[in-house]
Amino acid sequence: MKRLKLGVLISGRGSNLQALITACAESEFPAEIVLVISNKPDAKGLEHATAAGITTEVVEHGDYADRESFDREVDARLRSASVELVCLAGFMRLLSTWFTDSWHDRVINIHPSLLPAFKGIDAHAQALAAGVRLSGCTVHIVRPEMDAGPILVQAAVPVLPGDTEDDLSARILAVEHRCYPLAVRLLAENRVRIDGDHAIVEGDTYTEGYLINPARE
Ligand code: GRF
Repeated sequence: MKRLKLGVLISGRGSNLQALITACAESEFPAEIVLVISNKPDAKGLEHATAAGITTEVVEHGDYADRESFDREVDARLRSASVELVCLAGFMRLLSTWFTDSWHDRVINIHPSLLPAFKGIDAHAQALAAGVRLSGCTVHIVRPEMDAGPILVQAAVPVLPGDTEDDLSARILAVEHRCYPLAVRLLAENRVRIDGDHAIVEGDTYTEGYLINPARE
């Protein structure tokens, strides 16, 4: 089986990176991680990659004059590792239009809300402030605008009375770890067609019912 070569960009904890590492460890999973790049030398996620025997590199954005020269360095390293799909996993840098154009439809991101609601870094706080009863996560193809682009996978979870940001974040993170490997699988199996702002998933059948909150009597 030919496996899609992934490059994962991180800035911190790396739990989504770990979810991808775990998925890729399955012999029938159609992708492999060939490189992990962090823009922060102390990112915890680097330890997950090293423990799994994956090559890691640090590209510190402070060492580059501007956003595009940093992006060009990241691009060069991804290309020299023959990366085919770039996965942003808690990567806290906006990518330049130059980068997203040169990797068109080949960069994906995971965000802890049901986009297009609650873009930006404080998605959980925004969801709590808005009083929504359902939130969740989104894996999408990256476009130059922040947290925008064709949606590949979403999962919803309830927002419960008294939830703190940490409570909601933990509940959403559990489904992030299922959604990111699923999105990678769909792309690796060539089951996604991008049509303008939409991602069409081949064989997309949903049979599980629905989520309602508060629960009915
Ligand atoms: C996740 O909540 C992800 O949705 C967001 O940043 C967080 C990264 O967490 N983009 P981790 O580093 O993968 O644990």
